[in-house]
Amino acid sequence: MTSWIRRSRSLLQRLSYHPGNDNSEHWKSRATAPGESAVWFKNEALNRCIRSAQFRILEPYLWKLPQGAHVLDLGCGTGVVTRHMLQVRSDLRIVAIDFPQMIDRARAESVQYQGVEWICQSATEFKRFEQFDLVVSVGSISMIRHEPDFWQAIENVSVSVVRGGIVLLIDPFHTSNFLARVKVSPTNVRRSLQARGFNVDQHRGITFWPLREMISNTNTNSNWTERLYCLGEAVIALPGLDLLSDYKVIIGEKL
Ligand SMILES: C[S@@+](CC[C@H](N)C(=O)[O-])C[C@H]1O[C@@H](n2cnc3c(N)ncnc32)[C@H](O)[C@@H]1O
Repeated sequence: MTSWIRRSRSLLQRLSYHPGNDNSEHWKSRATAPGESAVWFKNEALNRCIRSAQFRILEPYLWKLPQGAHVLDLGCGTGVVTRHMLQVRSDLRIVAIDFPQMIDRARAESVQYQGVEWICQSATEFKRFEQFDLVVSVGSISMIRHEPDFWQAIENVSVSVVRGGIVLLIDPFHTSNFLARVKVSPTNVRRSLQARGFNVDQHRGITFWPLREMISNTNTNSNWTERLYCLGEAVIALPGLDLLSDYKVIIGEKL
């Protein structure tokens, strides 16, 4: 009963209020959580479904990169995306940034991988003028909930990409209190990149958010999770239903 009241209270709060404060402490404290739950959800079967969808989006951009290209993994977490990029293209030179707690774990889990520069720095501060052929944020830049800091990170990313380079954001951009991490619309993110000299596209999003809300922290078994996930992706693929996707896919090419 008490837990039910607590849950309803937290749901009500999420519906009516968006905390636009700095939440870096939240992420630092998650770095020791088991498996992918440090960066994603407790339901590891759901994490696997989301990962495959993310990698399907990311991989074509990796194949197009020139030999030895420079890539920034912004908010690398425990290093899963960095390692995947090196499995696809071992010639890449990757800079991976995050808070020290995440970087320590990512580094420890990636000892056999060459070509990564692990940097403990916030995306609100990190920039390298025209250094990167590709900047990737997989669920990270949107986690900068304090809006002025978020726009600063977008500015830092924009100046860090070479001309002809790509910014790929697979991030939950929402304006409802319930779903927002940073509370900005995908349209505003697109416009801000356009204003900074990017040609911007938005592709179909991934992850049907009502399902994610329902099963992300449950022990729903793998088979059911996969079936439900596929069903959800079929729903958001229907005309006009992309608004039910949690992660928006925004691709900017610097002109
Ligand atoms: C949802 S996790 C995704 C991690 C990783 N991209 C992945 O897919 O496994 C969000 C990550 O963003 C990082 N993050 C949050 N705010 C950040 C900031 N200001 N600068 C750098 N990283 C940040 C968190 O520490 C966390 O590792």
